[in-house]
Amino acid sequence: MKTELRLPATRDATIRLRVNGIEHAVRCEPRTHLADALREHCGLTATHIGCEHGVCGACTVEVDGAPQRACLQSAQRFEGKAIATLEGMDDDPLNVALRQAFTENHALQCGYCTPGMLITARDIVRRLPQADEARIREELAGNLCRCTGYQGIVRAIQHVLKTYRHEASHAA
Ligand code: FES
Ligand code: FES
Repeated sequence: MKTELRLPATRDATIRLRVNGIEHAVRCEPRTHLADALREHCGLTATHIGCEHGVCGACTVEVDGAPQRACLQSAQRFEGKAIATLEGMDDDPLNVALRQAFTENHALQCGYCTPGMLITARDIVRRLPQADEARIREELAGNLCRCTGYQGIVRAIQHVLKTYRHEASHAA
């Protein structure tokens, strides 16, 4: 006689997420990770999902100002935090500069890794204004790109870093 395996039913929960300055009341299963909550429930599809194991970095978003994987923890754990996705950075001058530099330096091909790369690149420019090529490569180690060979990505970040150093030295 066959025994039917029954998994316990899960009940949807309401999770409150603050994304790009806007409150979202998300009704989903408690196990839903942040990347799925953003894409499926908030309509914010700039955050990509690749490995869902914390390896590829495609799902990187900003949480309280720092890059973080969105595939590793349930969305519930992000209640009360300030989440930022690329959709909220359209007018951010640093993001605009990075997007332009990525385009000019052929830093993307299929574009799948690009949202995560841009979020990480933004963090590098803000946190490490003196970063050299080796440091940029080290910082990018958590973001995988299967297309570009990374040269263009590194060049784009170097270009923006130079501009920001130049601006900072003139402001001083
Ligand atoms: S999808 Fe999150 S690290 Fe790959
Ligand atoms: S541009 Fe295709 S994975 Fe990076």
